[in-house]
Amino acid sequence: MSDISNEYKGKATMEKITSLAKRRGFVFQSSEIYGGQRGAWDYGPLGIELKNRIAGSWWKEMTQLNDDIVGLDASILMHPRTWEASGHVENFTDPLVDCKKCKSRFRDDMIPEENLKAKKCPDCGGELTDPRNFNLMFKTHIGPAEDTASVVYLRPETAQGIYVNYKNIIQSNRMKIPFGIAQIGKAFRNEIVTKNFIFRTCEFEQMEMQYFVKPGEDETWFDKWRERRWAYYEKLGVKMDHLRWHQHPIDKRAHYAKDAYDIEYLFPMGWSELEGVHNRSDYDLGRHTEYSGKDMQYIDQEDNNARYIPYIIETSAGLTRNVLMILCDAYDEEQVTDKGSDGGGDDIRTVLRFHPTLAPITVAVLPLMKKDGLAELANDLRQELKEDFSTDYDQAGAIGRRYRRQDEAGTPFCVTVDYESKDDHSVTLRFRDSMEQVRVKRTDLAERLRKEIKEYKRVK
Ligand code: GAP
Repeated sequence: MSDISNEYKGKATMEKITSLAKRRGFVFQSSEIYGGQRGAWDYGPLGIELKNRIAGSWWKEMTQLNDDIVGLDASILMHPRTWEASGHVENFTDPLVDCKKCKSRFRDDMIPEENLKAKKCPDCGGELTDPRNFNLMFKTHIGPAEDTASVVYLRPETAQGIYVNYKNIIQSNRMKIPFGIAQIGKAFRNEIVTKNFIFRTCEFEQMEMQYFVKPGEDETWFDKWRERRWAYYEKLGVKMDHLRWHQHPIDKRAHYAKDAYDIEYLFPMGWSELEGVHNRSDYDLGRHTEYSGKDMQYIDQEDNNARYIPYIIETSAGLTRNVLMILCDAYDEEQVTDKGSDGGGDDIRTVLRFHPTLAPITVAVLPLMKKDGLAELANDLRQELKEDFSTDYDQAGAIGRRYRRQDEAGTPFCVTVDYESKDDHSVTLRFRDSMEQVRVKRTDLAERLRKEIKEYKRVK
């Protein structure tokens, strides 16, 4: 376990991240021209690349690197009985209080104790109602009639799509316990408190993996999956002193959990949940057996055809929450006094130190000048690199300014084509983190980039 401190030492603030995200096209407010939609955000050109790369890295970690885990993409709309069986209709609630005067609505654990006791609104001093349970699921209707028979829910977690398909996957793919099913997809919750940018939203994405194990082996697998998930973030180059475990106390656990831990990240607003690892026991498959009338038992051929309902170990990470974590983790500002060498002058540079495998743009190609054939040469090089790398091309403004623009987008490598390139067929490779520059032969460039990506180690 790494050194844990409660003090946020990063340079990011939520204001800076939100403003950079908008300025550089990572994340925009949804329906901004109409004043915005609370709890919903749009991912711009750099944001969708970052989100896709985070999803890709998780998918690779789960499915490509584990022979016993397969993928699934289940639908968002499911039979409404699913949510009765899962316990969400009954239990997926927040206790809310309303102010009778200003009509504000609060989660009762989010207002000061003294206000709750005195039933006094923290905003206007008006009288508060008693707490009432409010279900977080979005309800809609399928078909033209808005009667109860046509009610469907937008799924509040992707997990249930996996449970209802668990038998299909065993049969079609001959899976043997222990095995896992991974899924990435949208989930929806009618969250009352949606502050802190994309941290808690009404529409978000999850990356969930459900691992089916023999009862009695669940605790061992639970520990193994906790270790693996911790190691994953280490591999991504995340600041490990910004991560810690938090075990849910028994009285705070979700209705399905036998045991539950969160991986928390030290965001600018403090330690907050990034991912949950849960021992869901046989709760879910047991309930689906009861509600569907279908036999969800596994027949274990390796144990004399013993029949049992598997236990489930779940790893559940927010994809959009991981985007926020990676943005905060990568964000840095540093004083630079590199006049001459980098051309950016003395100033404070903002840099996103993304791992190169996550960076939306891997390499930017920049001609030193637009004239004298340099632009054509640079363009030609970019076309060549495109097949293997995500590239950008920028010929506008002073070279130092262009480096700064790429730093802010988190581009780990810039390649500059200059007058010498015309004669010696070499280019300048500039590294985002150190701002060092080296001369590389054009023919060696792709190989050098691949090596740099593979061997990347974050130093700051
Ligand atoms: N299937 C279990 C489950 O959904 P959860 O702890 O409610 O567990 C798992 O959610 C993860 O999903 C959280 O750790 C978080 O990363 C993400 N998440 C949950 N609610 C979210 C919201 N309203 N906005 C963004 N991400 C959310």
